[in-house]
Amino acid sequence: MKKLFDARSALLPKRWGLDIDTDGALIHGGCRLVDVAQTFGTPLHVVNEQRLAETARRFLHAVDDLYPGKTSVHFAFKCNPVPGVIEIVRRAGLKAEVASEYELRLALKLGYSGRDIVVNGPYKPAPLLKLCLASNVRFIVVDALYELEELNALCEAERCEVDVLLRINPDVVPKGMNQGSATGSRKGCAFGLDLKGGEVVEALARLKRSERVHFCGYHFHIGTGIYLPDEYRRALEQLKQIVEHTHREGFVIRVFDVGGGFATMNSREMTARELLLYQGWERLPAGVPSRRDLTFGDFARAVSGGLHAVFGSGTLPELIVEPGRSIASSSQVLLLTVHRVKERSGLRKWLITDGGISNVTMPTYYEYHEVFLCDDARRPRSETVTITGPACFAADIVYRNKSMPAVEPGMVLAIMDSGAYFTSWESSFGFPRPAIAAVKNGRVRVIRKRETFDQMIERDVVYS
Ligand SMILES: Cc1ncc(COP(=O)(O)O)c(C=O)c1O
Repeated sequence: MKKLFDARSALLPKRWGLDIDTDGALIHGGCRLVDVAQTFGTPLHVVNEQRLAETARRFLHAVDDLYPGKTSVHFAFKCNPVPGVIEIVRRAGLKAEVASEYELRLALKLGYSGRDIVVNGPYKPAPLLKLCLASNVRFIVVDALYELEELNALCEAERCEVDVLLRINPDVVPKGMNQGSATGSRKGCAFGLDLKGGEVVEALARLKRSERVHFCGYHFHIGTGIYLPDEYRRALEQLKQIVEHTHREGFVIRVFDVGGGFATMNSREMTARELLLYQGWERLPAGVPSRRDLTFGDFARAVSGGLHAVFGSGTLPELIVEPGRSIASSSQVLLLTVHRVKERSGLRKWLITDGGISNVTMPTYYEYHEVFLCDDARRPRSETVTITGPACFAADIVYRNKSMPAVEPGMVLAIMDSGAYFTSWESSFGFPRPAIAAVKNGRVRVIRKRETFDQMIERDVVYS
């Protein structure tokens, strides 16, 4: 029987892997968060090492257990390109998926072999392609026909060969997904080869003529925050004909890469409707887990079922998966200090903090994350407040109309699930970028130092 979401447990910090001490203070990885905030200052991300490693291992095992063929799990660097985080994920056994020259250089610097790297993205200029060839990456995922030509010319010039996957845009938009996240939409997103427009067939024809660029299989990535596992099955089933065509043309599909996108259970992307209501009318969604809890096994089963449906009794390809948010999101919290509480009687109450979308919370613009009071997580949520960031910029908001306990200046808020896309999005906007600490068994270590004011201007050149 399916496990139903229990509304009473929705706001219990336990659900987020947090404990509460006798004073009501939140504990993460054995450390009181208010103490960590005091010691290292805020804004501060705090990564729970054990939770991150366990999540990564659970993902790996789910895919391995439920898919009968070979599997590889590649962590999507773009989601959290912090070396200290990647190192934990890597030790758990995940490989790398990168989407820029910076990410590729980072992967190599962190010790990944090229054979453990898949390279993605719509923007692959010559220096990136050359580095891919020089470092012998396992696959370049071809995003467009022109990229195939560029790669061919480059391989001719360098007298080398390369294995590629073709990224297909299957024209599938997962249910409820906002347009900004729907990367498998033909009209809404430039990514991938246009299946319906015949580009995949054309790419195969060109690959047939190429002696240096070798077809190894397919890739898609249909969006992020997908909470209906069957969407993967639906997307895969769209590809039955192209798979048959590929076989008829004499190609072997050795690998199928289904991208990332698995939802997390304690935070979520807003749907298109929710986003409209929130940004247009300030109606923040009521809570986080508005659906039943899913496991990695649910996703793995759907993907496995989809591949069985497409390949029938034929040989199943190796399955590659590229999760980002489902690995990193739920192990990290972002601490903000409430600087002042400002109220206009009968109108609104604001909590003015040291972090908002201008510098550290960009995902809260389109995702719902729970917010806890670290000083006393048991206080009842008695008020509706707007939580702002520090910038002199009206849109610098964490959340409008958030239900919160009574909060006083100096208290610390925890924005939950800050492990995916927060650090990637952060910007200075007049404030140093935050430090990151990792906690484990009551011990804290800094894995990224806070930016200094000097570092904020060190790239600038002033002519006198
Ligand atoms: C090609 C590709 N793979 C994997 C991912 C990771 O997605 P997620 O963080 O939703 O798992 C992304 C995210 O944008 C992506 O573009």
